[in-house]
Amino acid sequence: TTQESIAITDLEGRAAVITGGAKGIGLAIAARLASLGMKLCLADTDAGALEMARETLAPLVAGPEDLRVEVVDVSSLEEVRRLKDVAYGAFGEVALLVNNAGIESSGMKPWDGPEAWDRILDVNLMGVVHGVQAFTEAMISQDAPGAIVNVGSKEGITTPPGNAAYSVSKAGVKVLTEQLAHELRQIDGCRVSAHLLVPGFTFTSLTARGRTEKPEDAWTPDQVAEFMLEGMSRGDFYILCPDNSV
Ligand code: NAI
Repeated sequence: TTQESIAITDLEGRAAVITGGAKGIGLAIAARLASLGMKLCLADTDAGALEMARETLAPLVAGPEDLRVEVVDVSSLEEVRRLKDVAYGAFGEVALLVNNAGIESSGMKPWDGPEAWDRILDVNLMGVVHGVQAFTEAMISQDAPGAIVNVGSKEGITTPPGNAAYSVSKAGVKVLTEQLAHELRQIDGCRVSAHLLVPGFTFTSLTARGRTEKPEDAWTPDQVAEFMLEGMSRGDFYILCPDNSV
């Protein structure tokens, strides 16, 4: 499925908001977008990692006012609405929203109790819903085009057993993103597109599990950021990183 999408060449000087942007895939996407001349607003629960991300990214952006970091928990709609106000207040518009924040649920059974389900669904699924709720109308109303990239997972498509809540949350992100793309296409003259980024196995703090060396078959976060840009420039709805493992 392809759709009309924002031209990558038009991102220079425009703003991107990245949730879970302090580490891993989100941070790599931020660095890649900064190298294209974008202004950035990173949102994350990890305040310490946000400060480190600020140091990493500062040399890549044009000036200090082009980089904002915000402590935001995406499971709270109120906090994501505040994030939208901060981003629009600072930059006046948003070219790209990347709903990337996510957590894991290893080794859980479908019948495990609410403590195994609630946080995963609140962050991985409702966090993306909140991003869509808070930003979509503003992005449609602004003069310039925009794109919303939601980060799913292969586990939300092939749903291998073992991480019930994670698979369900990522399947939800896939369906939500399909619905969003459909609705945006129904709106006359709408220049906001939606995309589902499916990273594949990527070496980050989410998957490291004590390993310090990247497994050979794992992507680096930088590679995933590159796959995202390539997919967006093709106008792909499904941005699937090439198969690299389960
Ligand atoms: P990571 O753990 O390195 O980075 C995730 C970031 O999200 C962290 O900085 C974390 O503090 C932040 N975060 C967690 N909960 C949050 C919340 N409630 N509000 C705001 N920020 C929050 O993980 P990674 O690997 O970079 O994951 C990024 C996304 O990619 C996640 O959605 C993950 O499910 C997805 N993904 C990762 C894969 C992998 O192999 N690493 C494979 C498929 C999908």
